[in-house]
Amino acid sequence: MTATLCEYKPGLENIPAAKSSISHVDGQQGILEYRGINVQELAFKGSFLETAYLLIWDKLPTKEELEGFESDITYHRRIKYRIRDMMKCFPESGHPMDALQTSAAALGLFYSRRALDDPKYIRKAVVRLLAKIPTMVAAFHQMRRGNDPIQPNDELDYAANFLYMLTERKPHPLAARIFDVCLTLHAEHTINASTFSAMVTASTLTDPYAVVASAVGTLAGPLHGGANEEVLSMLEEIGSIDNVRSYAEHCITNKKKIMGFGHRVYKVKDPRATILQSLAVQLFDETGHDRYYELAIELEKVIEEKLGHKGIYPNVDFYSGLVYSKLGIPSDLFTPIFAIARVAGWLAHWKEQLAVNRIFRPTQVYTGVHNASYIPIEER
Ligand code: SDX
Repeated sequence: MTATLCEYKPGLENIPAAKSSISHVDGQQGILEYRGINVQELAFKGSFLETAYLLIWDKLPTKEELEGFESDITYHRRIKYRIRDMMKCFPESGHPMDALQTSAAALGLFYSRRALDDPKYIRKAVVRLLAKIPTMVAAFHQMRRGNDPIQPNDELDYAANFLYMLTERKPHPLAARIFDVCLTLHAEHTINASTFSAMVTASTLTDPYAVVASAVGTLAGPLHGGANEEVLSMLEEIGSIDNVRSYAEHCITNKKKIMGFGHRVYKVKDPRATILQSLAVQLFDETGHDRYYELAIELEKVIEEKLGHKGIYPNVDFYSGLVYSKLGIPSDLFTPIFAIARVAGWLAHWKEQLAVNRIFRPTQVYTGVHNASYIPIEER
């Protein structure tokens, strides 16, 4: 059947592109579930790797399964020296998301076997990607500052090890725990732009490294994962609580998007933003006040007053940057951290896609002309 103009929905709004049992968002009530479990419960009672296992294999792991998974991931954290050498050639001023996209794609050069119907291959690819992506993010961060990468520390768990590779200091247990909660909160979110990208790439039966690389490229944009970095720049630009209202009014009048607000699905405050806000407060109580927090609260208040009627409230990207900067993480690593977490969701959708695969090939509404003449170049 040929699509007609009235069937066309810009941004595919409300068009189902797949059936999925991985996660569910109730955008009216502000509820997010992973495999039916409320994300808040998972974040506070479980761990990121336990959540990744749940998302990918559709079951909470037993103690033995989780220990085996964690230990495989710890074993595979190191990256090949050729990948490190390649990364050393990246420009220091390059964005870490571009470095990550390139490095994730490069993994396919080293692990090229493609046995998509072999559960052992699937597990190995999952382990490698979850294990190596954080190492690559931290390695680029060190190398752009002229340092050798810091080797992963096998004594540390997933979250603590990433923070360690950024600083060579073992993080405070509270910092590591909060970071792990952040990873869980970002692990999965139905068919968002980067996940859809992953699914489209997966549907061609290419390798999982290409799947993740394409998703990283999609996540980088400021309308998606890149918004968390932009939120901090925006708060810096606003500068003082006295400027919040005029900044918001200027954006609204000039139809400029306010970063960290609005969502295609949520018409109330994103539940992840509520949890991230509480984590930020917890960190401020432990380690001291952050002047941007008051700005953020005021901005949320003004936006609710002015745009609440349109269902525009803080999304996941609004408070995450405040948490990460309090953990001492540079702002251009905020989106790569989103990617570290979202690898779990992308791989869950990769696996789900393979199980029922049919290549994505939508149609379009052609708006061009027909039977146009070729005009010789000298006559144009
Ligand atoms: C993520 O989809 C996911 O699940 C993504 C994510 C995940 O976990 O994977 O949740 C992560 O990407 C969070 C979103 C991060 N992006 C931002 O914070 C950028 C700022 N927000 C937006 O640009 C916007 O809200 C989107 C991109 C998030 C959603 O875009 P939509 O659904 O296409 O909405 P729209 O741009 O068409 O806006 C609808 C209306 C417009 O007003 P009208 O023209 O109808 O009068 O709402 C207004 C918009 O102008 N609007 C905003 C706004 N977001 C929407 N106005 C001011 N500031 C905003 N941020």
